[in-house]
Amino acid sequence: MMDKVRRAGILGTGRYVPEKVVTNEDLSAMMDTNDEWIVTRTGIHTRHIAASGEAASDMAAEAGRRALEKAGISADQISFMMVATGTPDYPIPSTASIVQEKLGLSHTGAMDISSGCAGLIHGLITAGGMVSSGMADYVLVISSEILSRHLDWTDRSVCILFGDGASAAVVGPVPEGEGILSFDMGTDGRFWNSIHIPAGGVVQPVSEEAIRNKDIYMKMEGKKVFAWSVRRMKETADISLRRAGLDMKDISLFLFHQANLRIIQCLSEKMGIPMDKIPIELDRFGNTGPASVGIALDEALRKGHIRKGDKVLLDAFGAGFIWSSAVTGF
Ligand code: UT7
Repeated sequence: MMDKVRRAGILGTGRYVPEKVVTNEDLSAMMDTNDEWIVTRTGIHTRHIAASGEAASDMAAEAGRRALEKAGISADQISFMMVATGTPDYPIPSTASIVQEKLGLSHTGAMDISSGCAGLIHGLITAGGMVSSGMADYVLVISSEILSRHLDWTDRSVCILFGDGASAAVVGPVPEGEGILSFDMGTDGRFWNSIHIPAGGVVQPVSEEAIRNKDIYMKMEGKKVFAWSVRRMKETADISLRRAGLDMKDISLFLFHQANLRIIQCLSEKMGIPMDKIPIELDRFGNTGPASVGIALDEALRKGHIRKGDKVLLDAFGAGFIWSSAVTGF
């Protein structure tokens, strides 16, 4: 089993966003904010919000189904699956177990990944290693996030940023020259509480007091997250490019985590990347956590913006602080 070394790459992608669209005007009616502030500071115009009763596993299963279809791979060919999420259906069990059942993947191993917004790229890199080593033939990597359930809808500095969504990719063997060419993963645990939900784990179980203090909602040190996002996303991109032996100009598209247009503009400026090489999806979807890079990748493939022979950089940063990047060829 372990004697095969082969190239692993993305064979097909899928995405799912819930039907309900919430505009900046809708938010302005709920709190002291306005379209001009949100657009100027973030670039976000709308976001999709999950229906009540819709779970992370539902969205994950739909995105996964679409990725399998696109890749032309059947459920019984999948050896392993991962679900990157910070908003699992339950604390126990893993959301991956529920998604496995929903997709009818009866023989696969399955696990969750909790790596913030870098979760999908972490999953793709892990899947790539499994396929390259011959431990698995086809691996399904899904990300699904329903942050709307963990937002304080009176905290205008946080809730305007996020949207719900899911994305997925099938990773499998690809010809030499294609597939994942390099990657980098990093963590800076000093800042683990710069984005976090204080209550709901074992340190502070949900209680009336936690609810009263709004500790069940996501807290974020916006400015700190902004500054470190730019720094780490640039560093990791440089490392992945160097490891692939490639230059900035060899990359056709830069798929950056979609958190804030200004973060992306800073990266464009600091790295010397023209904005037309950076797809922007946050205007419609907001920050969909680990799903965001996958949504941008799926859109780019769908629109024919990635052609055979192209090399693409994936790059994300989020809670933890955790980040990762990968260069992949198509
Ligand atoms: O996946 C990774 C997760 N997160 C991120 O990547 C987020 C990174 N951070 C950011 O995107 C930005 O820091 C924010 C968009 C969150 C905030 O932008 P900012 O330019 O850092 O604004 P600020 O927090 O300095 O706020 C400026 C002003 C404040 O008013 P005063 O104190 O100057 O009077 C805020 O109270 O804007 C006010 N403000 C708002 N006004 C209208 C904050 N939120 C809003 C709002 N509408 N929604």
